[in-house]
Amino acid sequence: ALYGRVERPECIACGLCQMLAPDLFDYDQAGIAYYKPDRNTGTKALDDQATIHFRLAYKRCPTRAIKRSDHPFDADPYTPT
Ligand code: F3S
Repeated sequence: ALYGRVERPECIACGLCQMLAPDLFDYDQAGIAYYKPDRNTGTKALDDQATIHFRLAYKRCPTRAIKRSDHPFDADPYTPT
């Protein structure tokens, strides 16, 4: 299984991930991205369709702020404001 999340301090608010995978990424008011399906905890496995979109964003993020793993992350949830 594949898990993903945004390492938010590394995001420069470029906007690409949300453009490429609007079902997976959204922004806070400062434009910093978070991973939508599990509040950026990286604990919900991607299904096949979402994996395709995720890979596009993962490859294009200019700062490599999008992280992937084959096991769940250990991260605090992000609460969008
Ligand atoms: Fe940020 Fe990378 Fe998305 S810089 S807005 S996480 S493509």
